[in-house]
Amino acid sequence: MLNFEDEVLQPKNIPTSIPQQKLGSEQEQHALSENEASTVAHRRVSVEDKQIINCKADVNQLVPFKYKWAWEKYLAACANHWMPQEINMTRDVALWKDPNGLTEDERRIVKRNLGFFVTADSLAANNIVLGTYRHITNPECRQYLLRQAFEEAIHTHAYQYIVESIGLDEGEIFNAYREIKSIRDKDEFLIPFIDTLTDPEFETGTLETDQQLLKSLIVFACIMEGLFFYVGFVQILALGRQNKMTGAAEQYQYILRDESMHCNFGIDVINQIKLENPHLWTREFREEITALMHQAVELEYRYAEDTMPRGVLGLNAPMFKEYLRFIISRRSHQIGLDPLFPEATNPFPWMSEMMDLKKEKNFFETRVIEYQTGGVLSWD
Ligand SMILES: [Fe+2]
Ligand SMILES: [Fe+2]
Repeated sequence: MLNFEDEVLQPKNIPTSIPQQKLGSEQEQHALSENEASTVAHRRVSVEDKQIINCKADVNQLVPFKYKWAWEKYLAACANHWMPQEINMTRDVALWKDPNGLTEDERRIVKRNLGFFVTADSLAANNIVLGTYRHITNPECRQYLLRQAFEEAIHTHAYQYIVESIGLDEGEIFNAYREIKSIRDKDEFLIPFIDTLTDPEFETGTLETDQQLLKSLIVFACIMEGLFFYVGFVQILALGRQNKMTGAAEQYQYILRDESMHCNFGIDVINQIKLENPHLWTREFREEITALMHQAVELEYRYAEDTMPRGVLGLNAPMFKEYLRFIISRRSHQIGLDPLFPEATNPFPWMSEMMDLKKEKNFFETRVIEYQTGGVLSWD
């Protein structure tokens, strides 16, 4: 039996002394009196000490900032705060219950979508909390990751809230990632890369493990959040544009905005790791990433075919072939690879408007909250 008193009195995971700063230049102790300097055997953290991975400087000290982009994204994410239950789902409930409200193909899209997303964002949250966070040794990046982890919880909450509101079979939706092949295949592609980072034995610090970390970060940001979410986003937002499932569409619109920032933050982290560790970016490594991206496009296209066996909402699977090529080319370019499909164009230019909520906040004519309370973020 657990002795809770002992657990409280003798916490095992909290260090009993403050980590000593071992790196640094000659700037240490300049502000300390002679007496203080003699009793405090540490060096102050300087910007030069900070590194995005394998850093020995004290990660408990947020400032001085080195990566201002990380802190700015943290502030912007907080300014974009929202909660699922603030969105009115009444019209969605009435439409879903009306036997003539939606076609069978439209209902299939909604169920497949939720079937993927109700577990995808739990995978994302676990990947951050149990994996990525430990290996990113920079406090301002960790501050963003903490916010991102909470946003993933909000997203899982939003999907659960939609399932509950319209009265879907929870067993069917929450088991889809085991039971629906097109969803399971995407998750099975992702899980080995998540397992790498969440393995308690995994440590960075060698060429091999640093490359493994970088590969998992690329898979997570560029493929999971940057590609695997986008067939689903387009489908639900297309429903909203036709004045159907407008509450769900509004939830997805906020999620799209969050995910777009997660993806951009991940790409900033990837590029910073590359900058500080150029030896990781070998030809073999680049070829491996390119092959993974091709494989991911194929998986997401199969998901598009499965969710849209026929044309629906003015969409069809072949349109998504071009869209997925367009997106992955953008992702590959953003991390410094040659675009995979340089000729691809965007068949859904309205998607970029969906991220600009200040301009489009009345889009679905549902309730309006001005979530933006602080910083402004420009989207590229
Ligand atoms: Fe998410
Ligand atoms: Fe995310």
